[in-house]
Amino acid sequence: MNAMTFDAETWTAAGEAGLPAAIALRRAIHAEPELGLDLPKTTAKVRAALAGLPLEIREGPSTTGLVAILRGPANGRTVLLRGDMDALPLTEDTGLDFTSLNQGAMHACGHDTHVAMLAGAARALCERRDRLTGTVMFMFQPGEEGWHGARFMLEDGLIDPIPDAAFALHISPNMPTGVFAGRGGTLMAASDVIRIKVTGAGGHASMPHDTLDPIPVLCEIVTALQMFVTRRISVFEPAVITIAQIQAGTTNNIIPEDGRLLGTLRTLSERTRATAHEGIHRVAEGIAAAHGAKVEVDIDRGFPVTVNDDRVNDLAARTARALFGETAWVTMSHPMMGAEDFSYILQKAPGAMVFLGAAPEGGDYRTCCALHSNRMVLNEDVMARGIAMHCAMAEAALSGDLEL
Ligand code: NI
Repeated sequence: MNAMTFDAETWTAAGEAGLPAAIALRRAIHAEPELGLDLPKTTAKVRAALAGLPLEIREGPSTTGLVAILRGPANGRTVLLRGDMDALPLTEDTGLDFTSLNQGAMHACGHDTHVAMLAGAARALCERRDRLTGTVMFMFQPGEEGWHGARFMLEDGLIDPIPDAAFALHISPNMPTGVFAGRGGTLMAASDVIRIKVTGAGGHASMPHDTLDPIPVLCEIVTALQMFVTRRISVFEPAVITIAQIQAGTTNNIIPEDGRLLGTLRTLSERTRATAHEGIHRVAEGIAAAHGAKVEVDIDRGFPVTVNDDRVNDLAARTARALFGETAWVTMSHPMMGAEDFSYILQKAPGAMVFLGAAPEGGDYRTCCALHSNRMVLNEDVMARGIAMHCAMAEAALSGDLEL
């Protein structure tokens, strides 16, 4: 095992000591979930948890996110630790006694635990700030679930200076409890929304030659997009195009004037993403033109590809093992096709996002309810490990443990 500059026992003990407060904060946030970029109640709970600590708090006009800054006694590097704060639009069915009080909103992605772990780490690091050879930025971020919260906080100038290293934890019930998992390089996909509208001319279904039927054109586009993926994109460059919705027509004897396709594009590199955007336009526009129909193609850009820096990911692996033993780290064999807006931070700074397994007590991580499920539950006790990991990563990233 590599010797690290930090004392593992200090941070594992700090994690355990911070667990009761983390559980209380997590449950309070869980009971009052908020959606999007404007999370006043959640932010107020974070502020209360940080009250009295030697932190400089920054806020911006675009969101209720905040950045808390801790300056160590020495003026060295800056490391950013992120916790996302927003919930999802679904109704909870867990039966927990701190279950969501807001119908139609639930912390089903575990962001409540992310906030609690980050606040716990902020307290633990503040209490031991003499160990820090630089500055720690605690980024409490709203709007991760498709709202581009990280991008807004960057545009508001809250992440200044751009940190030398950045780190985020994401909890998961579908990994062994207490185990950290990550990989260097590509971790998660870019996710874009595809909208295609074909306009022809409506009329009687018995006389299609007097109309311009958009439905066969839509069908050709759907199949041609699948052919585009397999024939124009290398099998070594993963891309998924799924048309998940087709809308056209009203009844059996009418040809409608227009119809629509809605789908998702997932890619693992910006190059493949650009190739796919261009190809989707070309295929849809070419097929519509061949049949004399009009077409509108819109691709809404979602989050970019999430790419971990090899050095920071390696630091996370060494840190997890130093804290909790050799079995506490798993290197993921392949990326996931989900998306994450920590990608905006990773475009600016070397960093890593790491998963933390938290299958509920008595549950099997292979079969228990996944993130985004209305029945998703977590093992709260692993938050002690998350707090320790944040703290040790901060100390290690500020030191010679991370060669930049
Ligand atoms: Ni999430």
